[in-house]
Amino acid sequence: MKSGKTIYIVLAFLVTFSTVNATSPDWGATGHRTIGKIAEDYLKVKTKRKIAELLNGQSLALVSTFGDDIKSDKRYREFYTWHFVNMPFGVSYQDSEKNKDGDLVTGIKKCKEVILNVNTNKEDKAFYLKLLVHLMGDLHQPMHVGRKEDKGGNTFQLQWFDNGTNLHSVWDSKMINHYNMTYTELAENADKITKEQVKYLQNGTIEDWVNETQTFAIKAYESAEIGENLRYNYMYENFGLVRSQLQKGGIRLAKLLNELFS
Ligand code: ADE
Ligand code: ZN
Ligand code: ZN
Repeated sequence: MKSGKTIYIVLAFLVTFSTVNATSPDWGATGHRTIGKIAEDYLKVKTKRKIAELLNGQSLALVSTFGDDIKSDKRYREFYTWHFVNMPFGVSYQDSEKNKDGDLVTGIKKCKEVILNVNTNKEDKAFYLKLLVHLMGDLHQPMHVGRKEDKGGNTFQLQWFDNGTNLHSVWDSKMINHYNMTYTELAENADKITKEQVKYLQNGTIEDWVNETQTFAIKAYESAEIGENLRYNYMYENFGLVRSQLQKGGIRLAKLLNELFS
């Protein structure tokens, strides 16, 4: 009887806890893991070896959700604003007023700086590497470069197949989950691209990439109206962009890692 009660309490706790956790997980685990998995295909041998040493063999897919794992922990509050950047539409990152608490661009640069510093210990290097893998994912989620007024679409309420949600969540995870592929399947089924295309995608700076993502954020805002019930047609029109952003995120993450570790 007593153990039955304990199981009930544990179950109630787990249900409550998982509901709280489900509020705002960025690309969502599947999106972030897909980016980590794709990046692994573009790493140099030396980069792979150094990363394996730092992460004790954990894959990039596995550590890609780390940024969200620590997001609701008060001890890591200083990293909260690193997950997004809000520039007025039509204004480039370079010309925009910066968040004094930091943003995606300063966050990614800080990760690179700490990893490159010869005085950084292994534990800190691993921490910032895991964060970098996560943030390079966020950089490619259009709503993470969305409007400040609606917190990157978080307060842009609408419906997804008759259920209340918001535009941010549609782009983080609703479309990806609806597609119903695992992260390995999504990575394996990324479009086949040439070496020249990879090189082209890896061109540019963090600022260039954030400005590019903003153009997709503008399109995403134009794709829906407040209160609209999004259904199959929305998937049909927008999932291609989700897939290409996941692929770009992986390919560009690999570029940064190769620069840091080779
Ligand atoms: N998540 C929380 N606040 C955000 C914002 N202002 N923009 C994008 N994503 C966010
Ligand atoms: Zn998000
Ligand atoms: Zn994030």
